[in-house]
Amino acid sequence: MEIFKEIQPEEISENAFKLIGKDWMLVTSSADDKINTMTASWGGFGVLWGKNVAYIVVRPQRYTKEFIDKSGRFSLTFFNDSFRSKLSYLGTVSGRDEDKIKKSGLTVSENSEIPFFEEGKLAAICKVLYKQKLTPDSFLDSSIADRWYPDHDFHTLYVAEIEKVFVKSN
Ligand SMILES: Cc1cc2nc3c(=O)[nH]c(=O)nc-3n(C[C@H](O)[C@H](O)[C@H](O)COP(=O)(O)O)c2cc1C
Repeated sequence: MEIFKEIQPEEISENAFKLIGKDWMLVTSSADDKINTMTASWGGFGVLWGKNVAYIVVRPQRYTKEFIDKSGRFSLTFFNDSFRSKLSYLGTVSGRDEDKIKKSGLTVSENSEIPFFEEGKLAAICKVLYKQKLTPDSFLDSSIADRWYPDHDFHTLYVAEIEKVFVKSN
């Protein structure tokens, strides 16, 4: 049976550009005994303030944002290709409208206080250190703001310390 083992962020062997940008991830957070998750393909791993961090960007209308703002915590779960259609579903429907975790059939892991998914191959547990809503006048190339924010729904940037990383091992 495959179980999760904890590794250091420096031991993540997969390419972050592929993991996040191409294969996508689930951003999951819980508050008031409820859990919500959404698909994300923008974000990154890096180092800031002497800490290993992950950053994500979340639009104001996402239900998941309410959970992150309340708890200050989230997880990132990464999956193999066979979960692509589930990630599409979780990235299209809002948890405000459906019990999408239940409908997706994914299992919340008991490995951590911050929920992530048992079916994942890799998960990072994150604590928000900094958040800031992007502002139109901060874009040096205004065509990016025009292209991505025609409705002015600017993302909030979250920079979070990676507290734990879990990887599947046989
Ligand atoms: C491939 C993919 C990538 C996405 N990346 C992001 C992202 O980085 N930030 C974001 O705010 N929404 C992103 N979304 C949209 C949310 O996942 C989607 O709106 C979701 O339904 C929000 O669910 P919620 O309202 O339950 O939080 C993405 C969707 C897909 C399909």
